[in-house]
Amino acid sequence: MRLYLAKLVRKYRAGRPQFSSKLDQLLKTSQIRASGPSVMRRAPATSEAVTLLPQDQDSRQSLVRVFDDRDGLAAPILPAALAKQIDDIVSERKERAKLAAHGIRPTRSAILVGPPGVGKTLSARYIATQINKPLWVLDLTTVMSSLLGKTGNNLRLVFESAKQNEAVLLLDEVDSIAKRRSDDSDVGELKRLVTAILQEVDNWPDSGLLLAATNHPELIDPALWRRFDAILRFDVSDREGVALAIGRFLDRDAQQFGPWINLMASSLMGQSLSDVERAILTMRRNALIHQIPPARLAVDLAIRHAGELDKNARRDLAISLAKEGAMSHNQISELTGVARDTLRKYAGPSPLKGRGHKKE
Ligand SMILES: Nc1ncnc2c1ncn2[C@@H]1O[C@H](COP(=O)(O)OP(=O)(O)O)[C@@H](O)[C@H]1O
Ligand SMILES: [Mg+2]
Repeated sequence: MRLYLAKLVRKYRAGRPQFSSKLDQLLKTSQIRASGPSVMRRAPATSEAVTLLPQDQDSRQSLVRVFDDRDGLAAPILPAALAKQIDDIVSERKERAKLAAHGIRPTRSAILVGPPGVGKTLSARYIATQINKPLWVLDLTTVMSSLLGKTGNNLRLVFESAKQNEAVLLLDEVDSIAKRRSDDSDVGELKRLVTAILQEVDNWPDSGLLLAATNHPELIDPALWRRFDAILRFDVSDREGVALAIGRFLDRDAQQFGPWINLMASSLMGQSLSDVERAILTMRRNALIHQIPPARLAVDLAIRHAGELDKNARRDLAISLAKEGAMSHNQISELTGVARDTLRKYAGPSPLKGRGHKKE
């Protein structure tokens, strides 16, 4: 069987590289699990991945979630410095042989830090895609919720399997396990788990990549923190990033909403791109189903979010609104608390002079 697969891998390498690499993966899995159940229950004619994933021994549930975006995933929208850090990790992979010739190891591990919804998981997926590997995500909150005693075994299983498959492994919400060692009743067991992860980070092979993500860097054991080769710091996007993201999330509606993108970016400043995505999708649904004009949706969005903005962002939003001429300066000022003088200074005279003074 293995020979047959190997032959197929070679046969398809040139014509259908994706299929070939999936087969190749399959072959590797079957090598580690040679004594286990056959991985070849399906004919290899489908291009679906048939990798045997590490499972919980009792429940038979897969311990990891697999992302395979190798058919294309747009780069996450990130500040230049962070994007470069990510690109460097990718290039190091591609130039592994060159580095090795000089006795230099590539970055083997990285921890992704930042608030929820800013693209940590997405970036891990992107990195995996760029180095032509699937991403395995081990969500530690889920693993931890199973019996603590079992967690150790499950962890070991995932680590071994990921190394054998040369998958990119993401330990998501790593803080849920890597709590400071002074924690509650299961101190001993937690300590052993942290130690196990420490050792994996230290010994991860050059052929793989071990990523971890956390929203709570303060909970990470300092000893673990130090072990990672790279620290990638994520944060909410600046206005430019939000505007870019809005353009992307608007997709085929981008043209229709084009004139309002800057206004929407001002309104959604400070939110994660995950929240921005949700707001934009809601808006697109409303535009389509209720036939609400983009201008009104954009202004509604602005009004809804005005209260969440800090002083500078509110001023930006007020000026954008004034420039759009959708409301009088008076109305904008009431909504945002920004002085009418400021609006006049940056956006010229109120388009609806006089009328705006009346309360509706
Ligand atoms: N930087 C980003 N660039 C593009 N899309 C993003 C970005 N951050 C978040 N998103 C959108 O929000 C979704 C959730 O983001 P995710 O990567 O899961 O956040 P995190 O892991 O930081 O909590 C992504 O799948 C994507 O659609
Ligand atoms: Mg995530």
